[in-house]
Amino acid sequence: MLARRRISCVLRTLSGTARERQAAPSGGQDSASSAEPIYFQPVERAPRQTPCGFRLPLKVPPKKHPVPLGAAISRALRECVLRDHSGTTKEIKVMQAQTTVQNQFINTITQGDCIQVMRQMPANSVDFILTDPPYLVNYRDRDGRTIQNDSKAGWLKPAMREAYRVLKQNRVAVMFYGWTKVDAFFEAWKQAGFQPVGHIVFRKKYSSKSRFLSYQHEQAYLLAKGRPPLPRQPLADVMDMPYSGNKLHPTQKPVEALAPLVRSFTLPGELVLDPFAGSGSSCAAALLTGRRYIAVELDAEYFHQASARLERVHARIAARKWSTQFLIPTMR
Ligand SMILES: C[S@@+](CC[C@H](N)C(=O)[O-])C[C@H]1O[C@@H](n2cnc3c(N)ncnc32)[C@H](O)[C@@H]1O
Repeated sequence: MLARRRISCVLRTLSGTARERQAAPSGGQDSASSAEPIYFQPVERAPRQTPCGFRLPLKVPPKKHPVPLGAAISRALRECVLRDHSGTTKEIKVMQAQTTVQNQFINTITQGDCIQVMRQMPANSVDFILTDPPYLVNYRDRDGRTIQNDSKAGWLKPAMREAYRVLKQNRVAVMFYGWTKVDAFFEAWKQAGFQPVGHIVFRKKYSSKSRFLSYQHEQAYLLAKGRPPLPRQPLADVMDMPYSGNKLHPTQKPVEALAPLVRSFTLPGELVLDPFAGSGSSCAAALLTGRRYIAVELDAEYFHQASARLERVHARIAARKWSTQFLIPTMR
């Protein structure tokens, strides 16, 4: 009798889990009302019953309060933690320090090596990565402008490892890549833990080069960490890419092509990371769609161009807010 009850209880738990999985939202993140998409419903505990039907009080385990990143922990808790788990304390302190550093990076472009910068960021701390790393093609444009790290691949694996670490679980990254070096990029992504879940072709009206073919597209992989929810209205995987003019950077991507990606894979206010920022196109796309960004650029010249550009974008947004709030008559 008891054994049968136990089996049916196990079955109930299992079928509950299956239902919860079905209930996981598949809707677009943009349409969700809460800041963080809910992947699974909390499990309701059934009251314990004796074999003869008497209800026993629920044995509720003492609640564990996870310390939110960046939150100051009380002295009592700190002392208790110190006494019981010196290892845990060390971990919390590291997390707090990392979060303080992370906050300093928000809505700024940092000049430096993105591997070093990402190492200072906490794990699972950004909502989306949109980046255009060097294509490993030793690029030089007509004006002689070049791209750092474009001829050696030593940075690729450690950078992808860090990118995977700092991306939150069940979120995605869009990463451009050079098609001639697809094997190197793919190996680095797979080794880091990313799962390819899509591939995007950006159609250009002009060709960047003409040889065996007239080369008229850019390409990026959509990479998942865990099992991200699906957008309600998925973007087409072939999209137009207008000419950016390349004024600020030799391989500048147009914001028009990046903004739909930010809108599709994040909610307003969420955090977009670009570790290879160049002239800051993905940061501009993030800001202009109401998101925040963290960006890193190694090259001093491009870093200055990007920082000045983002200041202009900030100013434009502030001016627009000002004009909508105070100058344009509203219905309210
Ligand atoms: C293809 S470009 C990005 C262009 C950018 N999408 C834009 O629209 O301007 C790649 C950039 O990564 C930078 N870079 C290369 N290695 C880096 C590293 N280790 N850390 C940070 N930036 C790096 C290069 O200086 C270059 O500006």
